[in-house]
Amino acid sequence: MKKIIVAIDGLSSCGKSTMAKELAKNVGYVYVDTGAMYRAVSLYCIRQGWMTADSINETELEKHIGSINISFKTTPDGRQETYLNGENVEREIRTLEVANGASRVSTIGFVRRELVRQQQRMGLEKGIVMDGRDIGTVVFPEAELKVFVTASADVRAQRRYDELVTKGQAEDFEAVLANVKERDERDTNRVESPLKQAHDALLIDNSKLTKAEQRDLLRKWFDEKTTV
Ligand code: DC
Repeated sequence: MKKIIVAIDGLSSCGKSTMAKELAKNVGYVYVDTGAMYRAVSLYCIRQGWMTADSINETELEKHIGSINISFKTTPDGRQETYLNGENVEREIRTLEVANGASRVSTIGFVRRELVRQQQRMGLEKGIVMDGRDIGTVVFPEAELKVFVTASADVRAQRRYDELVTKGQAEDFEAVLANVKERDERDTNRVESPLKQAHDALLIDNSKLTKAEQRDLLRKWFDEKTTV
C-alpha cells in the first residue's frame, strides 16, 4: 500500500489530535503533535525567564533556538511523550500558562522556520500523520491527504472545560471560553503562517459528529488516498 503524508489542521481543542493519533495507531503511521513543539519552546522561554506578561526576549531566543532540541518517545502503552533537550516535559507543557506562551512564540518567524524545518525532516519517509495549524499549507503543501477540522468556540471550550475538571484543575467556564477565543484570534490573525484551510483540504465540522463518526470519515478518506 502506498505510504502518504496526512496533514491535519484546525483550531485549538477541536479534537484534531485525538483523531490524528487514532488514525496513526490504526494504520501504523508515526504521529507528530506539532503543537507540543511550540509548547516546548514556550516552556523553555518561561524557564529561562525570557517570557513576561507583555514581552518575549526574542534576541536571546534567536541566539539559542538552534540548541532547543525537541523529540518524541512512545510509551509502552502507546502514548507519545514530548522531550525537551532529553527531559520528559509532557505534563508541564499541557498547562494553560505554557499554552498561552506557545500561542505567543508561534507568532515569531524564526521560531516557525526552525520548527517547520524539523517537521519536514520528520516527514521525509512519509507514513506520518501530523497535526497543527500550518501543516497542509506550509509544512507539507504536497501532502496527499489534508484535513481541516473546525467546531464552534462554545463546543471547544466545553470540551476543554470537561477535560480540566476531569484532571481536577477546575476553572471558570467563562475563563476557558475567553482563553479559547483569545487563542483563536491570535492563531488566525498572525502575520506568520496564520491558520487557514488549504484550498485542497477536506473539511470536518465536528460540532455535531461523534468521535466514532469522525474516526470513520477520516479512515474512509485515508483508504481512498492509499488504495489508488
Ligand atoms: O495545538 P496546541 O494547542 O498544542 O498548539 C499550541 C500553540 O501552538 C497554539 O496556540 C498554536 C501554535 N501552533 C502553531 O502555530 N502551529 C502549529 N503547527 C501547531 C501549533
